[in-house]
Amino acid sequence: MKATIALLSGDGIGPEVVGHARMMLAAVAEKFGHEFTFREALFGDIATDKGGEPLPLETIRICEESDAVLMGAVGGPSGGTQWSSDKPRPRPEQGLLDLRAHFKCFANLRPVRVFPVLAGGSPLKAELLHDVDILFIRELTGGAYFGPRKEAGADGDEAFDTMLYTTPEIRRVAKVAFEAAQRRKQKLTSVDKANVLASSRLWRRVVESMKPEYPDVTVEHALVDSFAMQMLRTPDRYDVVVAENMFGDILTDESAVLAGSLGMLPSASIGEGKFGLYEPIHGSAPDIAGKGIANPSGTILSGALLLRYSLGLEREARAIESAVETALRNGGRTADIAAPGETPVGSGLFANMVREALAKPSISIDE
Ligand code: IPM
Ligand code: MN
Repeated sequence: MKATIALLSGDGIGPEVVGHARMMLAAVAEKFGHEFTFREALFGDIATDKGGEPLPLETIRICEESDAVLMGAVGGPSGGTQWSSDKPRPRPEQGLLDLRAHFKCFANLRPVRVFPVLAGGSPLKAELLHDVDILFIRELTGGAYFGPRKEAGADGDEAFDTMLYTTPEIRRVAKVAFEAAQRRKQKLTSVDKANVLASSRLWRRVVESMKPEYPDVTVEHALVDSFAMQMLRTPDRYDVVVAENMFGDILTDESAVLAGSLGMLPSASIGEGKFGLYEPIHGSAPDIAGKGIANPSGTILSGALLLRYSLGLEREARAIESAVETALRNGGRTADIAAPGETPVGSGLFANMVREALAKPSISIDE
């Protein structure tokens, strides 16, 4: 098939990890006979430095002309002299939020699997992790991130954020979660703070009201504080977990403890159609940028999600996922996942190990 993929590598380690993920997508194209066109576009602090804003119109246009977007991370050391307290430098994170909102990517899928070879590296007991396979579905274009707000600073000592949700916003993301639960283990955990927040009570009511449409799915509700604890005590109890924007943001960073490192985790942001934004869940990590030591797995695996959800290439997505697993099994460990005493490999070497595994004829039981 032919597809156009926009690359928004952004700041910090973004360009490095996106470079490695691009190599994997190109390798998939070669192996399976597809034609992928890559189009690079400016995004994040680097875009602000060059043209004054983190999400230039030209970048939106390139994304609109593409089938899917692969992103690195945003946020870097801010520079430039044109900014002042009257004209503050635009936050790169705002560019990311605007991009998600522009493309109405309201559902953020964050699969958390524990590769068996990494289970020993988690600070949690390995036996807790054997069967962990959670799909987090984070609402992405609502809640406190997008509610009407009064900017801090502009009015001195007061600032607020509004956690606002409407029934249709909750329904559409809950639908994604229910359908995912139907395809998986027919189990859905909905996380909220219904004992305190009105938006959470609405959230719970809407999820409850949808149960008759999915009679095969068992639904449980969990309060976010208690869930945050249970998730580390009995992570294998959960399958599909749905949460509002900020709860989902926090819980999925926490879930990195299960997977061994934030650097392992991919994400897919999707809306009504096939188009999607794909990015690792980690940030731009300016402290290690340019050193060639970042873990490219989260971005490489985001590339796999892109193949699966936007291009419908399931076999190709699995080829990438199992190549990452093979590289890990062959001892490839970037610094973030190396056990004490283990010698870490750089990002490039690790990516080459994945690339080699991908090039090997695939042995798969379902082929
Ligand atoms: C994420 C990030 C973003 C978020 C930031 C960079 C705005 O933490 O994708 O999880 O909070 O959504
Ligand atoms: Mn986050």
